[in-house]
Order: sequence, then structure tokens, then C-alpha cells
Amino acid sequence: KGLYAVVGHPISHSKSPRIHSLFARQTGENIEYTAIQAPLDGFTGVVNDFFARGGQGLNVTVPFKEQAWELADRRTERARQAGAANTLYLDAEKHLTADNTDGKGLVTDLVHNHGVALAGARVLILGAGGAVRGALGPLLDQKPAGLTIANRTVSKAQGLMTLFAGVAGDTAVDACGFEAPCQAYDVIINGTSASLQGDLPPLSPTVVAPDTVVYDMMYSLDNTPFNQWALDQGATRVFDGLGMLVEQAAESFRIWRGIRPDTASVIHALRTE
Ligand code: ATR
Repeated sequence: KGLYAVVGHPISHSKSPRIHSLFARQTGENIEYTAIQAPLDGFTGVVNDFFARGGQGLNVTVPFKEQAWELADRRTERARQAGAANTLYLDAEKHLTADNTDGKGLVTDLVHNHGVALAGARVLILGAGGAVRGALGPLLDQKPAGLTIANRTVSKAQGLMTLFAGVAGDTAVDACGFEAPCQAYDVIINGTSASLQGDLPPLSPTVVAPDTVVYDMMYSLDNTPFNQWALDQGATRVFDGLGMLVEQAAESFRIWRGIRPDTASVIHALRTE
């Protein structure tokens, strides 16, 4: 039986065990997937102990993604770009390897599940923390026409712009504060944690047109505060991050087991639970 787990703090509300058990049932893979709460100062010990016990793969969530990246002996290219890891495993030579499937999960949800064309699109992404850094490489791979990174702390948005300049290709990347963008965008992605404090980024309503796709990396049973704001401005296509959550899990499952599960049925199951 393959042993897997998600490590975080807190962890009791994680949906990952549920998602991976649905994947296992669907694919017939024999795995056990648990949730481990690591002490805030004890992440390394938990990881080393897990693999010493024969564990095959870990997902890593808040607040340990950067530590997971540092702990690993090897990093995939997309993990290197992201500066954080949500997936750990031992490679063929038993080296602890870090990957990051979050950005791929976001792009797969947008492009495949929601049919959003990112190629040639004008994209506005809000935030400049770990969530946005993980998304930028996979987003730029889609070759949008333009990518604006807007953040409360403008210098952090500028830092990300510089970091990704080498992989931007023909995409025009710019960085600014929330108030600066005023023309309508094709796609707006909220990657801030503002809603956790019940805050909204102070955007101009003119960034939203009726056909703007609005995506909040957070998910919730009701509309997220950001998506509700967008609806109030006249947006008609708003999505939350549940699909991203399932897609990043599917990509981790594929890395570990070599099989990509069907995600639509799992997203549907979670949405109705
Ligand atoms: P994560 O891993 O979720 O990205 P993070 O790295 O702490 O977490 O980044 C949080 C992001 O949300 C940052 O872009 C942060 O803005 P600052 O860089 O200015 O700190 C943004 N953020 C957090 N609280 C916010 C709020 N109340 N309003 C607007 N932006 C907020």
C-alpha cells in the first residue's frame, strides 16, 4: 500500500485526504492518504520521519511550502520558479524532490474546466505572495498578451516582475498598486489573502467588463467576497478555487502514481458535499 499525506498547520480542514481517496477509488490505486499537523517548529522532523517510515509522497500546505522547497535535495523547474513546494517525493535515486503543482492546477482549471482562453488574453493578477509566485510560470507558459501584477506593496509586485522577466517571452508584464489598472481585463485572478481578513483589494470597477473572467484562488460555499464584488460590477463569469484545489491534487497524484485521475467527477462531488 502506498503511503501519502498532507502536512500543514492547521490541517484539520484540509480537503486533500478526501480528494485523494476519491482519486484512489476511481483509479483502483491502493493508497493510504492521511493529514499530519506538524508543529510550527517541527516540519523537517515530520518529513524525515514520514519518508523513513516508507512514505512515498507528501503534499505540503500553509505555512510550510517554502520550508519544503528548502529541505529538498532536488527541485523541478516549476518548483524552482515558484520558490515553494506543495509536493514532495523520493526520486529514483532516493533524493527528496520538490515539485509545485499549484500553478498548473490553476491553469488547468481555467483553460480545461472553464474553457477560458489565456493565450493572447490580457490578464490582471492580484497579490505578490507565494500563491501568485507559484502561478506566474504556468500562466506565462500560456502566452497571454499582457500580464499585470498588482499588489498592496508595489515593490513586491515589481520584484516578481523582475524575477519572471526571463520567461515572459512576448507577454508584456507590468507591476503596480491596486488603484492603477483602469482598463477592462479579459481575466482577473485574485491571489491575495485579503478575504481572510474580510478585505477587498481597492480596484477600479472599470477593470471588470461583462465578459471578464474573474477567478478567486480561494473557494467557499457562497461567493467569495471578491467574486461577489465582481458580480456587483457586472461580471457574469466568476469562478472560485475549488477546481484549482482538485487539479493541483490530480497533478500530484499523477507524479506519484503515474495515472491522472478524472477531476470533473471529484470537483462535482466536493461541490455537493
Ligand atoms: P500566500 O501564500 O497566500 O500568497 P503570502 O505570501 O503571505 O500568502 O501573500 C499574501 C498576499 O496577499 C500578499 O500579496 C499580500 O499583500 P502584501 O504583499 O502587500 O502584504 C496580500 N494581502 C494580504 N492581506 C491583504 C489585504 N488585507 N488587502 C490586500 N492585500 C492583502
